[in-house]
Amino acid sequence: MKIAVLPGDGIGTEIVAEAIRVLDALDLSFEMESALVGGAAYEAHGHPLPESTLKLAKEADAVLFGAVGDWKYDKLDRPLRPEQAILGLRKNLGLFANFRPAICYEQLVGASSLKPELISGLDILIIRELTGDIYFGQPRGRRTAVDGHFPGAEEAFDTMRYSRPEVERIARVAFEAARKRNKRVTSVDKANVLETFQFWKDVVTEVHKDYPDIELDHMYVDNAAMQLVKAPKKFDVIVTGNMFGDILSDEAAMLTGSIGMLPSASLNSSNQGLYEPSHGSAPDIAGKGVANPLATILSAAMMLRFSLNQAEAADRIESAVKHVLASGLRTGDIWSEGTKRVGTREMGDAVVAAITKKTITG
Ligand code: IPM
Ligand code: MG
Repeated sequence: MKIAVLPGDGIGTEIVAEAIRVLDALDLSFEMESALVGGAAYEAHGHPLPESTLKLAKEADAVLFGAVGDWKYDKLDRPLRPEQAILGLRKNLGLFANFRPAICYEQLVGASSLKPELISGLDILIIRELTGDIYFGQPRGRRTAVDGHFPGAEEAFDTMRYSRPEVERIARVAFEAARKRNKRVTSVDKANVLETFQFWKDVVTEVHKDYPDIELDHMYVDNAAMQLVKAPKKFDVIVTGNMFGDILSDEAAMLTGSIGMLPSASLNSSNQGLYEPSHGSAPDIAGKGVANPLATILSAAMMLRFSLNQAEAADRIESAVKHVLASGLRTGDIWSEGTKRVGTREMGDAVVAAITKKTITG
């Protein structure tokens, strides 16, 4: 089992370090190799996704990814910005299916900005298509570029597009996932305005014929954004395109009050996957040892389950995380009155201790 470890920027290095300690505590034999990605790779090699990093990722069974990005790179030409690294990995590895669960941990109900009754027991799964849509549409650019810079240009454009095979395969992923859950899929589109999403809706409807046991409904993205805060528990699996999925998954994550808790998986058709927390690089708190490592630790659990065929080890990590929450330890982002505030390292320590069944101190 070969894991490529790409910590990236900001809090990426701190949180990935804790996930690795947790993986080590499982006593399985992994081959892990690290490489630079994002701004860190740009600094060292002049490119956010160097050839060597891409090669390592391609050859691995799974990629454990931290986060990329920092405001200080905002002035770089787009192809050199840290975010291009994650987009390049998705495209080059064909990671088209992005799983973003939004689960409300019972102990953290109070961390949500919604009323507890709206989110208690919440367990929804957003499946975002990841390698098409306006993110990768051609043509894209500006009508009148001025020395490669935006000011002075008269117009800019990005093209939204989806092909039939792209929509079909993500629809199948969603129906299969729903089969293992509550058998309901909501396909989110903007078919009332956009041709791309009328097409999306039609193709999803066709694929649905192969899944008569699954209930399918269609919802416009603006309504979906509203329903997510009005009655989020009505959803089971949401399937949508790259752009809408980007936005709705952040919204869904925050319903749980703690984006610091949510893992994600991006899979290709051979179950090779990239696993990363749903949150970003948080440069404002980087290096302070206060970031919540649990989303990354839970991403490592998803990696064990989906790409490395180690479901039992994944269960052990997930139970350890629940145990640590029940014991009252909290990083700043999920802290509330009556719980004990800990840093990144202490949180990692506690998960490791729970896995190795040593007494948790603190
Ligand atoms: C995400 C992020 C990325 C995206 C960025 C960093 C390119 O927001 O994974 O949701 O837009 O997909
Ligand atoms: Mg996003």
